[in-house]
Amino acid sequence: MNQSIALVGPGDRQVEQLLRGRGLTVISWMERDLAGRSQQVSAATDFVMIDLRDQPRLPAALEAFCRQHPAVPVLLLVSSLDPVLMLEAMRAGVKECLQYPFSAEELDTAVARIAVSRDTGPVGDVFAFLGAKGGVGTTTAAVNVATELSRLKAGTVLLVDLHLAYGDAAIYLAAEPKFSVADALENTHRLDAAFLQSLCVKTKAGPELLASPDRALGLLVDAGRVRALIDAAAHHYRYVVLDLCRTDPAVLDGLDPVKKILVIANQELATVRGASRMADTLNKRYGKDRVVLAVSRYDPNAGIGQEDIERVVGSKIRHLLPSDYRVALEALNTGRPLSLGNQTRLAGALKVLALELAELSNDARPRQGGRSIFGRLRGRS
Ligand SMILES: Nc1ncnc2c1ncn2[C@@H]1O[C@H](COP(=O)(O)OP(=O)(O)O)[C@@H](O)[C@H]1O
Ligand SMILES: [Mg+2]
Repeated sequence: MNQSIALVGPGDRQVEQLLRGRGLTVISWMERDLAGRSQQVSAATDFVMIDLRDQPRLPAALEAFCRQHPAVPVLLLVSSLDPVLMLEAMRAGVKECLQYPFSAEELDTAVARIAVSRDTGPVGDVFAFLGAKGGVGTTTAAVNVATELSRLKAGTVLLVDLHLAYGDAAIYLAAEPKFSVADALENTHRLDAAFLQSLCVKTKAGPELLASPDRALGLLVDAGRVRALIDAAAHHYRYVVLDLCRTDPAVLDGLDPVKKILVIANQELATVRGASRMADTLNKRYGKDRVVLAVSRYDPNAGIGQEDIERVVGSKIRHLLPSDYRVALEALNTGRPLSLGNQTRLAGALKVLALELAELSNDARPRQGGRSIFGRLRGRS
């Protein structure tokens, strides 16, 4: 969707061009328009940018404007981040400050942040799956948990394959996506419900999928963009499941909106060591409560046992997903998540994991009240 921005200030063609270059429609306002355009504001303006580079003082009508139009966020354009002015601006209700000169990326990030701040609706739960090593069963766990969550009928579920290259969640779900996380990450400034949904495919298993790209990204991804994508997804879906890539620092640094991060290990020495380092870093960055240790392809007779893993990683294993190569492989090859098939022990363990994440017991009824994507479409989008 094309967003429109009211630009208040002396009029700078270079700034206007930068805004238009990011797909924004620019309307020019005088300072007095902040007080005088009350009727038209909400319908035609997504947000307001006030250019304070020449005169670093807030317009007299700003505070009243923010109060009257809480759904129209205000962003300041400044030449320096003066702390006194910043504090005053925050008190007046300003949502964001952008320092000039700014890059296209900085503008996108600021616009994405205020777009989310404008959306005050309910926020869905986000669960991230991160393998301590490739091949441990992370995508299998993420795909099946997303499938189980969609069977709860508590609201829409989105699986995001956050591998910026070579992700394979689409194969596990027999999906043929036209778009991918590349399109989302390149357009974080316009990630409203309609645009986000247009990038996803509905899978036969239930969840929608935002797939990994099969092309190179047109920009360098930073944590701000990853966070903006996760935030947008959480605002439009009841549950969001992330299949993460452990070698991408921008992705691992953008997980602030995530409720639980599952570290998936198995019973190989190298993986257990990897899980230990990973859990340590995540505990420090996001807090121990959010980091959950699970072991996949679990074999009770393996040389490295449950307690060995717990000792090395320094936390309790919360979930054991039994080894069942035949069932896992058949699901992969047919593109039908194993949780939709026979009642195997592996399917049962994945269901328990999904229910625990959703804070439901095995026999509990699904929590009602999650809104469908259409129910969550904002009035002005
Ligand atoms: N619990 C399991 N038991 C046995 N094999 C599994 C299990 N989970 C996954 N697999 C198999 O292991 C391989 C890698 O699984 P995948 O989920 O793609 O791992 P990752 O995403 O960690 O690379 C696949 O062939 C898959 O079928
Ligand atoms: Mg994988």
